[in-house]
Amino acid sequence: MTASDTLRTGVCYYPEHWPEERWEQDAAHMRRLGLSVVRIGEFAWSRLETADGEWHFDWLQRAMDTLHAAGLSIVLGTPTATPPAWLVKRHPDMFAVDEHGHTRGFGSRRHYCFSYQPYHEHCKRIVTALAERFGKHPALIAWQTDNEYGCHDTILSYSPAAVEQFRQWCKERYSDIASLNAAWGNVFWSMEYSDFSEIEAPVGAVTETNPAHRLAYWRCASDAVIAFDRVQVDIIRAHSPGRDVSHNFMGNFVEFDHHALSRQLDIATWDSYPLGFLTRDGVDPDEQKRYLRTGSPDGAAFHHDLYRGCCKGRFWVMEQQPGPVNWAPYNPSPRDGMARYWGWEAFAHGAEVTSWFRWRQAPFAQEQMHTGLLLSNGEEDVAAAEVLQVAQEIDALQTAGVDLTTQQAPVALVFDYTGDRVQRNQQPDGRTHDPLLFTQQVYSACRRLGLDIDVVAPDSDLSGYALILVPNATIEDTALVASLAQVDGTVVLFPRTGSRTTESAIPDALPPGAFRQLIDVTVVRSETLPPEECPVARGAETSTVMSWRERIRSPLTPIATFDDGWGFHYTKGRVHYINAIPEPQSLERLLQAIGQRCGLTITTMPEGVRTRRRGQLRFAFNIGTGPVAIAKLFPEATAERVLLGARMVEPAGVVAWRVA
Ligand code: GAL
Repeated sequence: MTASDTLRTGVCYYPEHWPEERWEQDAAHMRRLGLSVVRIGEFAWSRLETADGEWHFDWLQRAMDTLHAAGLSIVLGTPTATPPAWLVKRHPDMFAVDEHGHTRGFGSRRHYCFSYQPYHEHCKRIVTALAERFGKHPALIAWQTDNEYGCHDTILSYSPAAVEQFRQWCKERYSDIASLNAAWGNVFWSMEYSDFSEIEAPVGAVTETNPAHRLAYWRCASDAVIAFDRVQVDIIRAHSPGRDVSHNFMGNFVEFDHHALSRQLDIATWDSYPLGFLTRDGVDPDEQKRYLRTGSPDGAAFHHDLYRGCCKGRFWVMEQQPGPVNWAPYNPSPRDGMARYWGWEAFAHGAEVTSWFRWRQAPFAQEQMHTGLLLSNGEEDVAAAEVLQVAQEIDALQTAGVDLTTQQAPVALVFDYTGDRVQRNQQPDGRTHDPLLFTQQVYSACRRLGLDIDVVAPDSDLSGYALILVPNATIEDTALVASLAQVDGTVVLFPRTGSRTTESAIPDALPPGAFRQLIDVTVVRSETLPPEECPVARGAETSTVMSWRERIRSPLTPIATFDDGWGFHYTKGRVHYINAIPEPQSLERLLQAIGQRCGLTITTMPEGVRTRRRGQLRFAFNIGTGPVAIAKLFPEATAERVLLGARMVEPAGVVAWRVA
């Protein structure tokens, strides 16, 4: 069996929170629930080093040995998200500073600025000490660097260290100040500099700062995160051979280039809190109401597919929501069955490990209201039984000998972190447009059509895909253009494609810039629209659009026309240019028609039902309000083929069958 067809369940554990006498009992209990992976250590700095160089590793050794003796595999987190009070007192300049100039002090976590170099030295010390001591521990299978880079809005810092690093970064990128002025268009409003030392962070100005300046600051911050991580990765690789290096990314988070950071990792992991994301991230109110106790049907799935694309297919869920969390505006209890459902959903999308957060609810400090697999008194909470069920179901599947190696999907969705950032930087023009949300709407439309999707980086190999969706390639990326020109798949470009140069200017030849090589369209005007204004385009298809519309000059005849004569949807051979943001139902119809034309098998999903194939199994999930007879949608799901769940899929249920 290869790594990617082995499914394992895990849990996040904090031995330092509990009396040592309890560890053995906890480890045995984890095994009884079928768990085999445990992540520890990521916030334990104050217990590992009580003063400069005063190491206390014996307790961690005993904890790891105890977990090992029970047969658990360990992921060790580096504790660099939580520099302790003694260290912070010695380096009062290590704090990040927010955009209003407030210093982000001690008393929670993530209180460091990525650009503050003396902190890198302390991280090197503790990571080296940990890697030397534990790097070859027999139970250790992987490392996690830090914890959730960017959590609590901590990527962009405006500290003196960050601004100084930005000046250096600008010097390296532009060499001389005249080139920087030209690249950013600083002649506008007399923003020209005569020396790199004059450059400040793009905050605190009277009105909007230059989007090119903000893009550069974002790129510099993204590079700073990657460099910070790199220090740890190199140390771990030197001292801990054969162990995977991972980091746990977040949901709905685009503050740095995750594809770029992932190049130095072995496994991309992410932290999945479907109910927290639903109420925190302001999706449509009807959807919030409908899916209050389940999370939206595509929220977690999108991220599984995104992170699967980061490290050549290897991804885990490092933290999986078990019950109510403590940090969203409202924290409802999930519908019974959802802990199991989310576990299987991750596996269906290719996860190697699903690991629940956390083992036992903490009776103290900030996360008292965050549930775990156990209540704070040590009794099992609701999710424990569901987690055991997942482990038993995995065993049954593995006994049946199904191959679960993830294969390439028929549809690719090209996701570009820089493209997303460039669109954000162009706000406040069109304030209701959210580029990540639009990308997710494209994704959801395909999922409602029953399609499997790979979310991939712009520099990925795009051959073999029947359909390639390009929702946010805002930058004129000539390598992407070349790659799209070479492949055979149908390509769908969405509004704003190629609408900016790498320095965030309008291309000389107007948008879509270099992408015109694929289809002869020129954007001569674009408009942004308030939510109540939704123009309708009529023709071979009828589509309602919202928030953004482009007027096109082209020798091609549009497929539909708006009342004011603007065209909509241009196509040439296998390339489509969609020059407005279709509302979700129109988008679905449009992609259905395009998908059918390129030979995809479309299966329209009932509300709340989704499907995904992994290896020899096809899964179906139901978070609708009633049971679903799956064989009506998928006749191949005969009784003999079903290997997981039942053909009448109850709400919060999952079924999987061996494909024909
Ligand atoms: C994550 C974080 C965990 C824990 C969890 C609570 O963002 O990585 O440490 O705080 O949220 O849901």
